Amino acid sequence: MQDRNWTHDAETMDRTDPLRWLPEEFFHPPGLYFDGNSLGLESRRARRRVEEALDQWAQLGVLGWNETSPPWFTWVEEIADTLSPILGAQPGEITLGSSTTVMLHQMLATFWPGRERPKILIDGLAFPTDRYAVSSFLESRGHHSDADLVVVPPQSGTRLITSQDVLAAADEHVGLAVLPSVVFTTGQMLPMAEITAALKERGVPVIWDLCHSAGLIPHRLHDEIDLAIFCTYKYLNGGPGSPAGAFVHRRRHPLAPGLAGWWGSANERQFHMPFGFEGASDAHALQMGTPSILSLAALAGSVELLAEAGIDALFTRSQSLTAFLDTLVRERLTRYGVDVVTPPQDRGGHIALAHEEGRALSLALRAAKVVPDFRFPDMIRLAPAPSTSRFRDCLGVVDILEHILRHEQWRAFKEVEPTVL
Ligand SMILES: Cc1ncc(COP(=O)(O)O)c(C=O)c1O
Repeated sequence: MQDRNWTHDAETMDRTDPLRWLPEEFFHPPGLYFDGNSLGLESRRARRRVEEALDQWAQLGVLGWNETSPPWFTWVEEIADTLSPILGAQPGEITLGSSTTVMLHQMLATFWPGRERPKILIDGLAFPTDRYAVSSFLESRGHHSDADLVVVPPQSGTRLITSQDVLAAADEHVGLAVLPSVVFTTGQMLPMAEITAALKERGVPVIWDLCHSAGLIPHRLHDEIDLAIFCTYKYLNGGPGSPAGAFVHRRRHPLAPGLAGWWGSANERQFHMPFGFEGASDAHALQMGTPSILSLAALAGSVELLAEAGIDALFTRSQSLTAFLDTLVRERLTRYGVDVVTPPQDRGGHIALAHEEGRALSLALRAAKVVPDFRFPDMIRLAPAPSTSRFRDCLGVVDILEHILRHEQWRAFKEVEPTVL
């Protein structure tokens, strides 16, 4: 009886969903895909744009940099312009290139205020690369990361980061903070505008890591923050290893990049190849080396598609999908020891579930053709991506999880060495 109701609910929501056309624009691997917050799926538009770029390369060789329309030479600027409204940025405030990790190094090298306020604040649940980048940056400047890295732990007894704890840790020696818009494990969304404003009063700029919100949350970066980095392979569906992005508010232009490279030159002077660096007047000064045109092609296709869908509609859809999933889990899985970690009132794009056999459970899901992901020690993340997932997928994954839990099928996976986590 209850199952029939869930099915009816899922079907009704899929049928009346204003973005029901969007998942059709993507390729779907077999089974149920819940890992769009690790790697978003491939759009038909991305594939078409890559094929076009391959044809351009075949037909033009190096002349493609100038003779394609638009020229490869300006693709970063073109795509950044399409991306800007999705992120609430103004023209010239976003650039693309390299990886999130490299972009973070670039931002640290550019905006670290120096020895007067050397400490860098970071949250205790930060994605490892952010922590490694900040530590190695401090070491490279002759500081000891043990002393100069200020780590804000999650509130005791919870897995949540609080604004109060962040602010309390920002003393007069802290000159910069690196924080996530959405915590990668728990899916907790932090109040970016509030934290940015409060830290600004203490003279601490924040580099926001938007990896888990770019293409998901309708950010108003220009109105709310100064600095950010993000990846484009999750909710922006740019493809494996697609270029990262950076946001620098106009009030901080022009900027002197800490790590200069010729691709950060002002476009009109790049091929004059001056001996000294003459940077672009906006965020594009942060670019370093030659961008990957094939990666940019895929990103261009997906970003165009997402811009057509509209970021507000995508976020509304994401929140409906995760709310449905949250309800299903609470009603049907908590009795088997599953705990919902993600706070419903501050939810990003995924639901994190804790279970003492989480690893075995995630392997059992894989065997049942579901792609979740697992985060040590006990957390399964399920991300119904707003561009590709359907309400019936949420019901499907909970049906499978309930079956695995009721029959304790996870036991068969307790000793299995995972090949991929
Ligand atoms: C919050 C966060 N920051 C950074 C990264 C990864 O950085 P990169 O794109 O350099 O591999 C990830 C990857 O999942 C992430 O979730």
